Amino acid sequence: MTRHIVARTSDIPPGGNKVFGVDGRDIVVFHVNGEFFALLNRCPHAGAPLEKAACVARLTSPEPGVYERSRVGELLRCAWHGWEFDMRNGQSWFDPKRVKIRSYPVSVESGEVLQKGPYVAETFPVHVEDSYVIIET
Ligand code: FES
Repeated sequence: MTRHIVARTSDIPPGGNKVFGVDGRDIVVFHVNGEFFALLNRCPHAGAPLEKAACVARLTSPEPGVYERSRVGELLRCAWHGWEFDMRNGQSWFDPKRVKIRSYPVSVESGEVLQKGPYVAETFPVHVEDSYVIIET
């Protein structure tokens, strides 16, 4: 899996989103409740851009006339026909067994860690004996 550094956290405001072209795909990153979620920017129903979807809450009803809101902002309601998806994993609420948006793992790392990177060259001890340079492997 290839890592792509796409933005600073401040580039995507709370409650907003931004689309990035990554390896020929448009991926939309949402910033909700302090977390970031990445999904393919294409509704699996008819291809609507999910960057236009509404970020809504989950509504449940324990009894008639009573409803409860949870996971505020974490569900996507497609702008074209209203299908709803779970932002955490792309799962459809309309047809969860068959319909899903492709989702991608997202992490937030400090600039200091990224600058350091995982790139470490193999090193070997070196010492000088008279006029010869000796490398030990
Ligand atoms: S294109 Fe998204 S619900 Fe139809």
